[in-house]
Amino acid sequence: MSGPSRLVARMIKATTAIDWAYRRFDRMRALLVTAYASDEALAAYNDLTYGAAPVYDAHASQFRERLFNWEEDFVARVFPAAPSRVLVGGAGGGREAFQLAGRGYDVTAFEPSPHLARSMADRARASGAAVSALLGRYESLPVLQDIGNGERIDLTLTRPFDASMLGWSSFSHIRDTRTRIAALRRFAALTDGPVVVSFFSTPPAKPAAPSSLRRVMNRLGRRSDGDAFTVHIGFYHLSSPGEVAREVAAAGLQIVMESYDDSDGHWPWVAVARPQIAARLAATSRD
Ligand SMILES: C[S@@+](CC[C@H](N)C(=O)[O-])C[C@H]1O[C@@H](n2cnc3c(N)ncnc32)[C@H](O)[C@@H]1O
Repeated sequence: MSGPSRLVARMIKATTAIDWAYRRFDRMRALLVTAYASDEALAAYNDLTYGAAPVYDAHASQFRERLFNWEEDFVARVFPAAPSRVLVGGAGGGREAFQLAGRGYDVTAFEPSPHLARSMADRARASGAAVSALLGRYESLPVLQDIGNGERIDLTLTRPFDASMLGWSSFSHIRDTRTRIAALRRFAALTDGPVVVSFFSTPPAKPAAPSSLRRVMNRLGRRSDGDAFTVHIGFYHLSSPGEVAREVAAAGLQIVMESYDDSDGHWPWVAVARPQIAARLAATSRD
């Protein structure tokens, strides 16, 4: 091996110090953001980052159109047959909303990023799909906004929905356990049927013990175990099955079906309902 080749190899290897430094910086940024950023700042970051993602923008050629395999599963297993009214939250540009409308459901869908909500409303108008697209976030339920004129829309003044879903992993963007419980309760209050929630879940393997730095940060700030941040999707929380069950119970709801299958692109989800509705669903279950 020639001397110059060895020198080039050493120089390439030396650049991994930059990767190491970046990983440390990224972890430190995530700790600081999850500990100290305000709810408003995290919500604004969410709208900024999702609003710029073409896969969620119904105007863009990269817009992701189809339902995932696990969404097909729960629509078949727990949703009432179409035609019925469905509420979709965290809807992005309307991926689930347009697919459900295409299957005969009458859909109301909302999304906090104004850019994505507008793209969904534009597509609904242009395609004539049965999708009513609104602006809003879980924290403001049951009140949402008309994306065109800003008019306040109170969903309690409409007929209850026959089923509802918190769009793909959007539940995990809710800041803390109190707010997640409130979102579940408010969704269920609007729904005379199942409410399906998908989320980021903790890996099945026991997580490594938190570092001493992380333990200090957990004590100093607003961090809870499972809180995370990436520049790509902003704040998110990894929920364990037990934590989801506790939040569902604290919202006064019952789990009617759940799946923690993560094979072949499946995603964890639970279907929950108010107790009387859960009893009715159990009596008429197709499973
Ligand atoms: C992974 S994207 C999914 C978008 C769409 N459901 C899809 O699958 O194409 C998560 C969505 O949740 C929305 N979201 C984040 N925080 C939310 C909140 N507090 N209330 C409602 N939606 C929220 C984001 O703006 C984003 O559009």
